[in-house]
Amino acid sequence: MKALKKPLPPEDVPHYSNIELFPTLVWQINLGDIISDKGKKVITDSLKDSRENPLGNRTSKDSYVLEHPDLKEFKDTLMLHTRNYFDFTQHPPKETDIYITQSWTNLTRKNDQHAGHAHSNSLVSAVYYHQTNEDMITFYNALGGGLSQLLVASERYDKYNAQSWIVDVKDHDLLIFPSKLSHSVPKKESTGDRISLAYNTFFKGSLGTKETLTELKVNDWEELGWNRIKE
Ligand SMILES: [Fe+2]
Repeated sequence: MKALKKPLPPEDVPHYSNIELFPTLVWQINLGDIISDKGKKVITDSLKDSRENPLGNRTSKDSYVLEHPDLKEFKDTLMLHTRNYFDFTQHPPKETDIYITQSWTNLTRKNDQHAGHAHSNSLVSAVYYHQTNEDMITFYNALGGGLSQLLVASERYDKYNAQSWIVDVKDHDLLIFPSKLSHSVPKKESTGDRISLAYNTFFKGSLGTKETLTELKVNDWEELGWNRIKE
């Protein structure tokens, strides 16, 4: 191979391969207008009884919104996509599955925002945008972005140097992401209420393997003969 005389774009370098280690996957899927009229009413009604969120907008007091019978079909669709994400990223054995735990709605009005946070006690999280108006969400790079904590004034902002990434969202978009991925909603500059529905998930079945001494039977703790509550 000849020595390079000048810098080349990587794709022009002979025998080049780009090994992208440990990427973070965020799925954005537009589901279309699939919720029944009764289901839509459940979503809007849930916000009639809401609380002011310390993070800067309003959240329904009901934190199991997707358990409402009128949202069953919609929940099944969300579960299908979420399981797809889980399978695509984890390739789990058939003994391991996930399920939706809490689900709640958010109301964001002009000048509201939602400060940076991640979702604890959850594996995969998602947000469905029921009603938007030039809205967005920002995800943060836990590794800082770039090559170190030193900040290069990059002339091209891309996935290799980004400290954060803004995703534009529109009506009926579903975003699925790892619960540990920090995110926020910048101050809403546009008029019109934004309504979203978010949910968390957790493991079901067993994790790890017996052979590697990593086996954890998530929902079978009673079978192990141990109960914290002594009667
Ligand atoms: Fe969130």
